Amino acid sequence: MADFVTVAQVSALPEGSATQVSLRGQKISLWNVGGTIYAINDICTHEECDISDGGTVVNGAQVECPCHGAIFDLRTGDAKALPAVEALRTYPVRVEGDAIQVAM
Ligand code: FES
Repeated sequence: MADFVTVAQVSALPEGSATQVSLRGQKISLWNVGGTIYAINDICTHEECDISDGGTVVNGAQVECPCHGAIFDLRTGDAKALPAVEALRTYPVRVEGDAIQVAM
């Protein structure tokens, strides 16, 4: 069974916002899209920019890297637009009260 760890608070992540957290040495970004929270590796597979540092949500539940415009699906991690071709890892998320918990 997955081991969920509290990484942030829902109250600190309003709809439309993102934040970066660190879990076991991995930079993970949390995205609140319409009240659904997604967790995805924050390091772009193109040239390793931190996506949450200026990235924007597009096309529903996709995110655009601020560096060169690659787009990733927050649900699957799949690269949807060049220049990235490699998927990002995604992580299971659950909310317990105000706690956002992520499993690795
Ligand atoms: S580093 Fe993200 S698109 Fe280039």
